[in-house]
Amino acid sequence: MYATEGSAKLEEMAIAGYHKVIKVTHEPTQLQAIIALHDVTLGPTMGGVRFYPYSTFDAALTDVLRLAKGMTYKSALSESGWGGGKSVIITPSASFDRLALLRAFAEVVDRLEGQYICAEDIGTSPQDMLQIARVTPYVVGLPHEKSSGNPSPFTAWGTFRAIQSAMQTLHGSSSVENRTIAIQGLGSVGSCLAEYLFWHGANLILCDIDEARAHSVAKKYHAKVCTPEEVYHQQCDLFSPCAMGGVLNPATIAQLRCQAVVGCANNQLLSDGDADLLMQHGILYAPDFIVNAGGLINVTQELNPEGYDPRMARNKTDRLYDQLLLIYQAAEKNGCSTHQAALSIAEYRMTYGIGKRVTPPCFHHFACKR
Ligand code: NAI
Repeated sequence: MYATEGSAKLEEMAIAGYHKVIKVTHEPTQLQAIIALHDVTLGPTMGGVRFYPYSTFDAALTDVLRLAKGMTYKSALSESGWGGGKSVIITPSASFDRLALLRAFAEVVDRLEGQYICAEDIGTSPQDMLQIARVTPYVVGLPHEKSSGNPSPFTAWGTFRAIQSAMQTLHGSSSVENRTIAIQGLGSVGSCLAEYLFWHGANLILCDIDEARAHSVAKKYHAKVCTPEEVYHQQCDLFSPCAMGGVLNPATIAQLRCQAVVGCANNQLLSDGDADLLMQHGILYAPDFIVNAGGLINVTQELNPEGYDPRMARNKTDRLYDQLLLIYQAAEKNGCSTHQAALSIAEYRMTYGIGKRVTPPCFHHFACKR
C-alpha cells in the first residue's frame, strides 16, 4: 500500500438515468477525474480508465457518460454479468507526477468497494493498471499468470463471427469465401481480422492512415489498398470500420456501395438516426457495441474463480453470432433499425435480470475471496 497526501474530494453529480456519477479532485496530484456508473442491475460496473487532455470538464463529462452507457449495453448483450461503468482522467495542463496521480485515483476506486472495476483504455497501459493494483484489487488486465492478456484477437474473432452473421442473413450462408470486405484501420484488431478473413477465403480491400502499414498488411494477403478517403465508396460486400468513431454519418453513408457494415470501432454512428439512414439505404448494420464485445468477454473470464481459460473466452465470443442473428430478426419483425433492436433487447434483459452475475468476481492478483 502507498500513502497518498490527503484524500481526494468526491462530489456526486445528479445525472438522470445514471446510478452514480462522481467528480473526483485531488489537488496535491492535480487529479481531476469523473467515474460514471450507469447501471448496476446485472452486476458491478466494469469499464476502462481513459486518460485524455479534454479541453473542458464538460467535454470529459459528455465522454464518460456516453462510454459508461455503452458498457451497460455491451455487457447486457454479451451476457458478461457487468453493469456499465467508465472513468476519465483529465490530463493536467501543468507537469505532474503520473504515479502519484494514479495512486490517488486508485484510492478512490478502492473506496467504491468493487462497485467499479477498472481496466486499460485510451491513454492508459497495463503498467498503469499495475500501479492501480498496488492500491486496490478492483482492476483487470494485469500481467500475471491468470491474466487474460491482449484482448484484440478476441475482439477480432467476435468481429469475424459478426461478419459471418451478416453473411448468413444476407445470403443464407455464413461463408465469407470470395466475398469482398473493405477494412478501415489495420491496428491491433483490424490486422488480426484481416488474417482471419484471409484464411476463410475472403478478398480484402485495406486502408490505414499509416500507408506503410496498409501496404505491408496488403502484401501478406494479396489485398487491394485504397486511401482513407476512398474506402467509403469501394464496391464490396461488406465495409468493416476498425479505426475510430463517428464514421457512419449522412455524408459517408451516401457513398457506401456495400450490403453490410460490421466493424469493431467504438461509436461508429455519429448519431442514432444514422442507423435509420443505413436501413433506408438497405444496408445491414451490426451494432458496434455487440460486434466488439469479444474484448470484454475475454477480460471477464480472468475473474472466474478457476482463473482465465482462453477456450471459455473463445466459446463465449463465438456466441455473438447468435446474439446478432437475434438482433437482425427483432429489427425485421419490428420494422426498426438493428441499433434500436439491440438497445431494446438489452433493456429487456436488464428489466428481467437476464444475465445477472451470480458468481462474485475473483481478483486473483489479491487472494481469491470466494
Ligand atoms: P489501434 O489503435 O491498434 O488501431 C487503429 C488503426 O486505425 C491504426 O492503425 C490507425 O493508424 C488507423 N486509423 C486511424 N484513423 C484512421 C482513418 N481515418 N482511416 C484509416 N485508418 C485509420 O486500435 P485497435 O485496438 O485496433 O481498435 C480499433 C477500434 O476498435 C477502436 O475504435 C477501439 O476503440 C475499438 N475496440 C478495440 C478493442 C480491442 O480489443 N482492441 C475492444 C473494443 C473496441
